[in-house]
Amino acid sequence: MDIGIQEQKKKAGSGSCFQKDHQEFLQKSESLHQVFKNICYEGKLLLGRNLRRAGCLLQFFETRFVKHLEAEEKVLYPFIETHIPRYASVILFFHREHKDLQETLGELRQIVEKLQGNQNYLRNKKLIETIQWKGAYFNHLLRSHIKTEVETVLYAFDRELRREERQELLEELRQYQLH
Ligand SMILES: [Fe+2]
Ligand SMILES: [Fe+2]
Repeated sequence: MDIGIQEQKKKAGSGSCFQKDHQEFLQKSESLHQVFKNICYEGKLLLGRNLRRAGCLLQFFETRFVKHLEAEEKVLYPFIETHIPRYASVILFFHREHKDLQETLGELRQIVEKLQGNQNYLRNKKLIETIQWKGAYFNHLLRSHIKTEVETVLYAFDRELRREERQELLEELRQYQLH
């Protein structure tokens, strides 16, 4: 194989630790969105089961997703910003989106707990509506956040950093055990 192509393939794989996480987050976020729709439309008989599913999916985001955000905020973003300063403004925006995503997760968790504490379907109509649109918001924001990360900081990771810089960054990221 041509050396140039080999090198390109190697470069393209550098940000894959983030990309594998992203694929999983998109899948789980879609499932979460679906469970919230089910809570809304499947009625009181399946409410308990749907709430348990929502609780498990939220727990996934509260652990794996939060760890991913930490790796980006503490290692990836500062590294890219230092080496390629023109990404500073988009990185500022990413911090804001992380905060928004985490706040929305916290609100979804609170609603799930409230519904688990009182499963009276009719009395909770308002909360059930809220959980559905907040779930849709989370799903939408996550998708657009990931898409922009791929087009900016992960593009920079794979294509704009020098080989030694990429190695250094991968080394710093090792402690986060991304996939
Ligand atoms: Fe992010
Ligand atoms: Fe990310």
